Amino acid sequence: MEIKALNFDPETVKDPIALFVFEDDKENFDFLGSLKDQVEKLLQVENFKGKEESLAKVSLLLNGDVRTFYVVGLGKREKAGEEAYRVASGLLAKRAIKDKVNKLYLYAGNLNLRLSKAITEGAILGSYKFDKYKTKKEEENSNSLDNLYIYGADEEGIYLGKILAEAQNFTRDLVNEPGNIINPITLAEIAQNLSREYGLECKVYDEKEIQEMGMYALWSVGKGSATPPRFVHMVYKPEGEAKEKIAIVGKGLTFDSGGLNIKTGDFMRTMKMDKAGACAVLGIMKAIAQLKPCVEVHGIFGAAENMPSGNAYRPDDIIRAMNGKTIEIDNTDAEGRVTLADALSYASKLGVSKIIDMATLTGACMVALGEYTAGLFTNDDEFGDEILALSKLTGERLWKLPMDDKKLREKIKRGDADLLNSGGRYGGAITAAMFLEEFVGEGIKWVHMDIAGPADFREAFSYYSKGASGFGVRTCVEYILRICEK
Ligand code: BES
Ligand code: MG
Ligand code: ZN
Repeated sequence: MEIKALNFDPETVKDPIALFVFEDDKENFDFLGSLKDQVEKLLQVENFKGKEESLAKVSLLLNGDVRTFYVVGLGKREKAGEEAYRVASGLLAKRAIKDKVNKLYLYAGNLNLRLSKAITEGAILGSYKFDKYKTKKEEENSNSLDNLYIYGADEEGIYLGKILAEAQNFTRDLVNEPGNIINPITLAEIAQNLSREYGLECKVYDEKEIQEMGMYALWSVGKGSATPPRFVHMVYKPEGEAKEKIAIVGKGLTFDSGGLNIKTGDFMRTMKMDKAGACAVLGIMKAIAQLKPCVEVHGIFGAAENMPSGNAYRPDDIIRAMNGKTIEIDNTDAEGRVTLADALSYASKLGVSKIIDMATLTGACMVALGEYTAGLFTNDDEFGDEILALSKLTGERLWKLPMDDKKLREKIKRGDADLLNSGGRYGGAITAAMFLEEFVGEGIKWVHMDIAGPADFREAFSYYSKGASGFGVRTCVEYILRICEK
């Protein structure tokens, strides 16, 4: 899709025109000049009020031509932030595609860089579909929105929005691929190809090197599968001296059957999405390579498939992770934290000041927060709060959960080893985060996002479709960009 800033004249444009309007606002239609009265009257018939997530289409005849207007609500002016524009733009793109509109003109009021960026993101995210395996494309979905012209938009905002949304869609494409296509080996190859294309350093460690490095936790989780595990380390280095060094770590289970503690059918379904954290890392590295911020960024993930077999790791097994700590396996389905033990240990040795990890870690996090909000856990409130504040802008919902419960922490220390890989049912997202914290090096500021809920949606809404969301990509990239603006 081509998105451009263009100051068009609503009276002469023949293609559909879209307007973003505030709820019950007098100035909404002034832009339309002589067309204002007619459009306003037609909208009254539709009982359109400009509420959030509302959209109306009206058509009128002008000198023998049908002129179509889409009007999308932003909600109350005082409340409409970046996310309202992103949502409006996403809904508009979806509707335009459904109506077979290829070219669309948009007037969304006064736009600055941030709002231009949000509109661009919404349009690109809202246009996303995963239909590469449909041998016959559905009639309804065969159309694409090719051109979007935005009145008074900021070109820099459009540029940023494009890179961010395309990176997020790249992540969605990867997460949506099933386990027979993306396995640990192919996921590592994707990282290598991406790095080659964008000039990033990339080192892939195979199952032998994984053991040589002492990553027995990652290796153990992966050894039950016919496809052996891989460990991936990508690096972006800025030209000149880096202002900061940070690591982004992702959980990369290309499929999670549960292992010997096998999941039942309903829970195993969708577990191709258990690599969403690693795929977010890939999306982030792609965006970072294009935006070239002043920060050195390490993108890291262990890729493994959790399968039951004669070679699979077992409940009761005691495993030594790369940082020397021992882990007793209570449940082979709590495998994500075991792989992350090694990924976080590795990241901690790179001399980074901060680590952000993203993981589809626990069903318990979805029980706590619902499926649209990720859990945020941190060992540094200031760092955590910065990310929480950003998430309000990106629309990627995050909510902080506590890490200071000493009694709860005891639950992962009950076994025969240093740590037990499950703390039981209650507070399951928190005990998982506490487990991860054991592998974060001294003095490193750390944020963990449990994205089990919002990494993959069961139904389409606002700018999302059913399936992978690419959650985490925009918030992390924006965080990195902010470091350079400070
Ligand atoms: N990958 C799952 C968590 C998950 C569940 C992600 C639902 C997305 C949707 C994880 O590996 C897992 O199985 N966790 C267990 C942990 C338990 C055995 C302590 C869980 O949440 O049930
Ligand atoms: Mg599991
Ligand atoms: Zn898992």
